[in-house]
Amino acid sequence: MIYVKSGFVLLIYFISHINSSHIKGSWNTKQEFFKFLIKFGFDKTDTRNPEYSLGYIYGNITSQIVHPQQNATFVLLDRSYFLEFYSNRSKSDKQAACSSMFKEINQSIYDPWCNNNKKNNDFLRRIPCPKGMICAEETSQPLSVVKGSQFTFRVEDNAQPRFWYVSLVACYLNTSSCKWQHLNQEMNIDYDIWLVNGNPNHSTHNPLVYQFSFDKQVSHISKKGIYLFLLGDRK
Ligand SMILES: *[C@@H]1O[C@H](CO)[C@@H](O)[C@H](O)[C@H]1NC(C)=O
Ligand SMILES: *[C@@H]1O[C@H](CO)[C@@H](O)[C@H](O)[C@H]1NC(C)=O
Ligand SMILES: *[C@@H]1O[C@H](CO)[C@@H](O)[C@H](O)[C@H]1NC(C)=O
Ligand SMILES: *[C@@H]1O[C@H](CO)[C@@H](O)[C@H](O)[C@H]1NC(C)=O
Ligand SMILES: *[C@@H]1O[C@H](CO)[C@@H](O)[C@H](O)[C@H]1NC(C)=O
Ligand SMILES: *[C@@H]1O[C@H](CO)[C@@H](O)[C@H](O)[C@H]1NC(C)=O
Repeated sequence: MIYVKSGFVLLIYFISHINSSHIKGSWNTKQEFFKFLIKFGFDKTDTRNPEYSLGYIYGNITSQIVHPQQNATFVLLDRSYFLEFYSNRSKSDKQAACSSMFKEINQSIYDPWCNNNKKNNDFLRRIPCPKGMICAEETSQPLSVVKGSQFTFRVEDNAQPRFWYVSLVACYLNTSSCKWQHLNQEMNIDYDIWLVNGNPNHSTHNPLVYQFSFDKQVSHISKKGIYLFLLGDRK
């Protein structure tokens, strides 16, 4: 009886959140070293129609503190990079945690100060982004930022649909030493982020696909499917 009842509550809970690829909230950098936001499945990119099928992640990340002494980092990773990154977050020495979390990623990322190669992976944003402006990583290509937002990531995968992991972490890449450091300043950082399949600039989207993570595109048809999938998906 209790089992069935709690299952029912879970089901209702997930159905009400199922079509939401919009996440909004606040993160305190002192209370939580690491904050996991969402795992989202983007479709395989349709090479004939990339603008309609690329994954887009865009939004704003701000703070009341206008000129923080240090920054935090917004991190977007696929599973192959995420596992090591995630497992190293729990080291008790947070300075050591920061260096090992980013050790592997550091080699291949784009960063305007430390790794200014546009062909590198676009995985990170220094946050908070400057108030009323686009994030520093976007300033060389402002037109590729979705209107009304501070940052935009494009996710392209011509081979297969893939899960991406979005998180916030109290580490920053020092702009002069290019070493990863622990952010020890307390800040409240507000995020407002959309994840969609297809360029939000284009008005004609398949509504069944646009807002759904690819796994949910299938499972939202069957309520039982949603329930089973999400239980397996709890972190
Ligand atoms: C924090 O990030 C901004 C860009 O958003 C940059 O201009 C600033 O130098 C960074 N601060 C530090 C201390 O790295
Ligand atoms: C941490 O990162 C290192 C490499 O930097 C890796 O070998 C290790 O498996 C990761 N996980 C833990 C729990 O240390
Ligand atoms: C996001 O930031 C942009 C650029 O600063 C601004 O124009 C827009 O109003 C902001 N949107 C929200 C929801 O805060
Ligand atoms: C949105 O459309 C405008 C005008 O066509 C274009 O300049 C801009 O680059 C587009 N933005 C994105 C994110 O594709
Ligand atoms: C960055 O590193 C330099 C050199 O190690 C150091 O002097 C500076 O204080 C660091 N900046 C921040 C914001 O930690
Ligand atoms: C991170 O990568 C940049 C560019 O390759 C390099 O200059 C820097 O020393 C690396 N930092 C660490 C801590 O490995």
